[in-house]
Amino acid sequence: MPTDPADTVLNEIEAIGKRSFIPSIGPVKGKILAEIVKKTRPKRILEVGALYGYSAILMAKNSPPGVGIVSVEKNSEHVRIAMKNIKRANMEETIKMVEGDGTSELKKLSGSFDLVFLDAEKTEYLAYLKAVEKNLHKGSVIVADNVGIFKDQMQDYLDYVRNKGPYKSRTVETLLEFSDNTKDAMEISEKLVESSMELEDGGQLTAFVFSFSWALFIVFEKVTVRMPWPLKQLLIGQFPGEFEAQRQVIRLRSNELLL
Ligand SMILES: C[S@@+](CC[C@H](N)C(=O)[O-])C[C@H]1O[C@@H](n2cnc3c(N)ncnc32)[C@H](O)[C@@H]1O
Repeated sequence: MPTDPADTVLNEIEAIGKRSFIPSIGPVKGKILAEIVKKTRPKRILEVGALYGYSAILMAKNSPPGVGIVSVEKNSEHVRIAMKNIKRANMEETIKMVEGDGTSELKKLSGSFDLVFLDAEKTEYLAYLKAVEKNLHKGSVIVADNVGIFKDQMQDYLDYVRNKGPYKSRTVETLLEFSDNTKDAMEISEKLVESSMELEDGGQLTAFVFSFSWALFIVFEKVTVRMPWPLKQLLIGQFPGEFEAQRQVIRLRSNELLL
């Protein structure tokens, strides 16, 4: 008999899954997810689709101490059961349940996530990723379940992480939860660039600095343009030709920013 209360809860959910199908990842995919968590060593995890709390408890159990998990679940009965299981696993401090629709709740999240587990509405995976992309950093890992059995419903997501977006992605083939013969797969994608929020902010700051310098330069030029050049040279130590060269450089840099 397991002494860890988390193991007791996990075993109970597994027993339910063996009696009648439940769409929880179960022990086979659970091992893959546990390995990813151990390797990633996340401080913050986001889950979309909790069901009874199995995957959230499993991820918490395999994470370093101090991890924080946010799990978004839209079905209120599932939220109630998951919270009961999380309490029984002694993980109330670690796992925070958020009741609501994945896409809209993800847009409200702040802070950064090291690992994201997508396991809710299959046609919405790309919408979930786009909604949380602002919270992902270089090296954040996204695990998407059911990319084998439901691949037709998530072609846009798979195309994005495999070909179009800033990710390195691989597919791990496995079996459908609680099945001995139905094939399924999980997609594991690693983000290759910093969060778009940071890039946007950085870009805005750079654009502001250049616009400000450009405006200052124009004002200065207007003020000094009518001065006789010996006075100009005295004031700013420049000959007229140098002015034009500087103007070209600044114009070039402002154009680069607009690309
Ligand atoms: C496959 S189950 C999750 C299984 C769970 N991750 C596990 O392994 O134990 C999918 C869950 O996603 C929830 N769900 C479906 N659509 C959702 C949405 N738009 N937003 C949030 N949760 C959703 C369902 O209510 C269901 O509980």
